Amino acid sequence: PRAIVLDCDPGHDDAIALLLAHGNPDIDLLAVTTVFGNQTLEKVTRNALSVARIAGITGVPFAAGAGRPLVRHVEHAADIHGESGLDGPVLPDPAFDLDSRHAVELIIDTVMSREPHTVTLVATAALTNLALAVRTEPAIVERVREVVLMGGGYHVGNWSPVAEFNIAIDPEAAHVVFNAAWPVVMVGLDLTHQALATPEVAASIAAVGTGPARFVGELLEFFGSTYKEVQGFDSPPVHDPCAVAYVIDPTIVETVKVPIDIELTGTLTLGMTVADFRAPAPDDCNTWAATRLDRDRFWKLVVDALETIGEG
Ligand code: BDR
Ligand code: CA
Repeated sequence: PRAIVLDCDPGHDDAIALLLAHGNPDIDLLAVTTVFGNQTLEKVTRNALSVARIAGITGVPFAAGAGRPLVRHVEHAADIHGESGLDGPVLPDPAFDLDSRHAVELIIDTVMSREPHTVTLVATAALTNLALAVRTEPAIVERVREVVLMGGGYHVGNWSPVAEFNIAIDPEAAHVVFNAAWPVVMVGLDLTHQALATPEVAASIAAVGTGPARFVGELLEFFGSTYKEVQGFDSPPVHDPCAVAYVIDPTIVETVKVPIDIELTGTLTLGMTVADFRAPAPDDCNTWAATRLDRDRFWKLVVDALETIGEG
């Protein structure tokens, strides 16, 4: 199995990413770290622990990280994820405590204590923790297998016309992560807008018939209603599990090697992930953009993970 650290801000789609990572047999979930984003650090961290209880995750360290971006003012997405960050279902109290380490320390410890090129960092939120980890222990750059992140895109944005939320809320952190010499796979909106939780998808999840599957159903119901109201989608795009799916089976998510950098000064384009499709990617290019999703196999992974989790 692929060993991963999941850095997240649950968040409806983050919660589903966590369930997928836990329930899929090809993923070894080494650690979970949280960062401000969809809601405050306190709220998303508590949400992560509640999801762990629902999924029956034990023996995996969870640690809280950055509570604000490196440079900018903090922004949250309450319009999409609600006041709690995970509105809709009733959330159980956490069943275990946080690890005493800061998320950045936990990331560094995990990467440095494992064999080189075995740990994948999966980020489904602002890249603040990853950027701080690179600056704190630059040796992790050489040591990780790859960074797979949900964020950005090369056609549309969602926080601005051209910038996606996870990148836009801490563009400087994204700049650090995209410019480090490790492989970065950008699973952006071009890809995740293909992962729509249609009524058929919701029905196949409901058919699993367990508590965790009902929890996902309730998440999708709330997420679907805000996505309709705020962004005009008929069915909500379930972004974050797409990054986990890529790690499980890269043939489900097609990618193209392309130089990508982050806009830090544009007045209209701050936080844009600028992909240079003009020529074949140069030899030193270490960034990839996700292009096409195999929808059926993606949703089957999610349903199979829920079957495996059972009652959690
Ligand atoms: C991303 O923003 C967050 O609100 C979601 O959890 C996802 O990671 C989509 O732009
Ligand atoms: Ca997220």
